[in-house]
Amino acid sequence: MNNLPFLFCGIFLTLALSWVGLILVPDLFQIGQLDRTTSELIRPDTEEPIPGLTYRDDDGNLQYGVPNPDEELFPRFFGGKARRGKEHYVSMGCLYCHSQQVRRRGFGADYDRGWGDRQSVARDYILQERVMLGTSRTGPDLKDIGSRMPDESWHHLHLYNPQITSEGSNMPPYPFLYETRPIPDDGPSPDALSLPAEFAVDEGYEVVPTRRARELVAYLLELRLDYDLPEVRRAEN
Ligand code: HEC
Repeated sequence: MNNLPFLFCGIFLTLALSWVGLILVPDLFQIGQLDRTTSELIRPDTEEPIPGLTYRDDDGNLQYGVPNPDEELFPRFFGGKARRGKEHYVSMGCLYCHSQQVRRRGFGADYDRGWGDRQSVARDYILQERVMLGTSRTGPDLKDIGSRMPDESWHHLHLYNPQITSEGSNMPPYPFLYETRPIPDDGPSPDALSLPAEFAVDEGYEVVPTRRARELVAYLLELRLDYDLPEVRRAEN
């Protein structure tokens, strides 16, 4: 066992190199330096789109540099409801069937399937502690689902039973996210699902979303790629 120090050096080097490659390099050169930016990418003098950061000053002129604090920044920060919705997304395993990454042209049919107007890039994920990239696509990619399907009631019907909106779907239903209850004396709830006749519940009952369902849908509606970034613009795709 004379070679023990070499063995330990080898193990140390292997671990150190993977740490450098997988953590240090991405942090220093890929994601660590990224900031949120505005979606305004127009050159002030020629009004041409530019790959860089610009903002509008008090007189409405476009300037280069740090964005105006009043201007909306992208990627957006998820509010409390959507953040809790993300926890439900994780706990119910949506991630096993849905990815959240749109590939660029030439790397698959993502654009042709209507999954986004541009590819997703590292900056789109900078505010997220846990990134739901996903590895399997049994169902469609959801990175841009909030722009593609902005209708809250559609999502509730679909989660309650995917067969209502997408006949033949092999997505599992999530009826436990909904409460079936007698219609209160003062009339049906405004949130009650409008179920088609073949899925209707007993007379005098209604189906309403629980808090979890509302949070999950709030999260889905926040998943949007409807803004430009310096490194990728929708128009170019
Ligand atoms: C077993 C795999 C599977 C699981 C788990 C799953 N889905 Fe799906 N999902 C699908 C399939 C397949 C489709 C396409 C058919 C359809 O629209 O139902 C789909 C469609 C969708 C769509 C509509 C996408 C579009 O472009 O029209 C949304 C939104 C969605 N799923 C959300 C969820 C959420 C939220 C969860 C977790 C609560 C979930 N899915 C869990 C398979 C799955």
